[in-house]
Amino acid sequence: MTINTDVQTALEWRYAVKQFDASKTIDASDWNTLENALHLSPSSFGIQPWQFIVVQDKTLRTQLRAASWNQSQVEDASHFVVLTAKKTMDVQYIDAYLNRIVEVRGVDPSSLDGYRNMILGKASQPSQAIESWTQRQVYIAMGMLLATAAMLKIDTCPLEGLSSADYDRLLNLTDTDYTTVAAVALGYRDIADKYSLAKKVRFDKESIIHYR
Ligand SMILES: Cc1cc2nc3c(=O)[nH]c(=O)nc-3n(C[C@H](O)[C@H](O)[C@H](O)COP(=O)(O)O)c2cc1C
Repeated sequence: MTINTDVQTALEWRYAVKQFDASKTIDASDWNTLENALHLSPSSFGIQPWQFIVVQDKTLRTQLRAASWNQSQVEDASHFVVLTAKKTMDVQYIDAYLNRIVEVRGVDPSSLDGYRNMILGKASQPSQAIESWTQRQVYIAMGMLLATAAMLKIDTCPLEGLSSADYDRLLNLTDTDYTTVAAVALGYRDIADKYSLAKKVRFDKESIIHYR
């Protein structure tokens, strides 16, 4: 088996699980790798405009299910991660990030002046554009999480079918600078989930990937 075969197999094996086996739990070492997929996700300027909430409380899961078109994945999955995006981008946050670069890489703060101006330029866009920008970053983290899980043979279902306002209320986010964008349920497919046998529906590769 080459790595290409392994990755191809994982990509084909992954599907959006509708029915999880509620009796199966992701083990600690796999979960640690999945956390790292979120932690190490790339983002524009490296700004990491997100918070990820792992919901373990059963009562809260039940409440979130009601706010997610009653989708059973919310309650039955081993782990359930709510992906939130930062609503604003202020100078304090940007400087906290730049301070982190200085701390981690040991660089001179003044060497980051040009970079700081670039980020500030981006942050000066209208608030709607900022929110759209931060939310796009969150979807990159979602993709990283889904792909990493597939390689570990851990099932997932991304969920956008939810009420962001209800999630924010239930997770006490309303008065914070973060808002719910989407969620990912992770665990193991139930053998009764008929979608595991469904063929993948994609337009022809040639019609979406072009060479010039
Ligand atoms: C951002 C996003 C949101 C999604 N939301 C839901 C959802 O709320 N419920 C659900 O069952 N599937 C959801 N899906 C799964 C898609 O329907 C699924 O990925 C698509 O039909 C392709 O099928 P596959 O992932 O099984 O290959 C979502 C997928 C993405 C990427």
